Amino acid sequence: MTAVAVPEQPAAHLHPAYATGPRPMRVVSIRRLTDEITHFRFGPLDDSSPVLTAYQPGSHVIVTTGGGRNAYSLVDDGMYPTSYGISVLRRGAGGGSDWLHDNLVEEGVVEIEGPRSMFAPVLDQRGALLVAGGIGVTPVLSHARALARDGRRADIVYSYRRGSGAHADDLRALAAQPSVTLHEVSGAEQTASLIADRLRAQPLGTHAYACGPTSLLETYTRLAEAAGWPRARVHLERFAAPDPEPGDPFTATVASTGTSIDVPAGVSLLQRLLDTGVAVPSLCRQGVCGECRIPVRRGTIEHRDFVLTDDERAAGDTMLCCVSRGHDIEVDL
Ligand SMILES: Cc1cc2nc3c(=O)[nH]c(=O)nc-3n(C[C@H](O)[C@H](O)[C@H](O)COP(=O)(O)OP(=O)(O)OC[C@H]3O[C@@H](n4cnc5c(N)ncnc54)[C@H](O)[C@@H]3O)c2cc1C
Ligand code: FES
Repeated sequence: MTAVAVPEQPAAHLHPAYATGPRPMRVVSIRRLTDEITHFRFGPLDDSSPVLTAYQPGSHVIVTTGGGRNAYSLVDDGMYPTSYGISVLRRGAGGGSDWLHDNLVEEGVVEIEGPRSMFAPVLDQRGALLVAGGIGVTPVLSHARALARDGRRADIVYSYRRGSGAHADDLRALAAQPSVTLHEVSGAEQTASLIADRLRAQPLGTHAYACGPTSLLETYTRLAEAAGWPRARVHLERFAAPDPEPGDPFTATVASTGTSIDVPAGVSLLQRLLDTGVAVPSLCRQGVCGECRIPVRRGTIEHRDFVLTDDERAAGDTMLCCVSRGHDIEVDL
């Protein structure tokens, strides 16, 4: 019997315009925005597939930074991208963000993964209040650009220290459109008072989005609650989180092997799974990026992340194992 040759068809999801796995990209340009913030733009290695994977506003990519990997928000509107732009704050502590500042050169090559969406706009929103603090301007700019592109309403609050307003010029250019307004502010008290004002001024149907330091996000959620905003309309993205309490010791069982793992106080389930040879992806290890989400079959989960929605928590079948803990957990791994 003769075998019939089946012509090889590239799987649809492998088309270059849908790639999201780790892949090398070219550093197209590097531009200093402030003393501490630099804008990097990445493109395809060659010009054979100029369109990159599209993304929802507020998405991020994962960049290999020397020995580590970090998430960075994409700053464009996400439609038909021919390059990915990120803006990175130099933290000055010798970490991966500093590494990018010190090592990337134009025409160099860097490994990129994603885009990933965790801070997307709600599709049926009737306009958005966008609040940015410092480097948190990056996903907010992406949302603002998408709204401005579609002629939709965006009311933007941008709080930054004088001289550190990265992308303020881009936001001002968007605010030349009648559908976009921009309020620039400095100082904690002035920012809180402006956010309170803008929360009160929004028409019904508006959703609010914020990204910035923990203190600003706390102020924003507190003021939104005080102004009677439903939680489902108040969105935020964190770049980092405070160190969690050590928590109580607990035991987790790995469903596929039946192995029981002790998780002492102050040690994460993620760390113990990795110690035992169970591969689990991770990135931030602070409960903010969503990478270490694992399915749970049974047990009581003590959720300590900043990613899952109230509904996902209530379902009780998934956890972010870098920070969340539990009692008699069985993980579906
Ligand atoms: C969704 C998202 C979007 C972000 N967007 C931006 C942005 O637009 N611009 C910007 O400047 N920053 C952004 N950040 C923050 C950025 O990813 C870094 O966390 C931040 O810059 C500090 O990194 P660092 O390299 O200076 O510090 P480092 O200490 O070198 O790096 C911290 C990295 O290592 C991980 N890590 C911690 N402990 C361990 C461990 N035990 N083993 C392995 N890895 C570990 C961290 O969580 C993080 O990914 C974003 C973060 C998130 C989650
Ligand atoms: S590794 Fe980021 S949420 Fe767990």
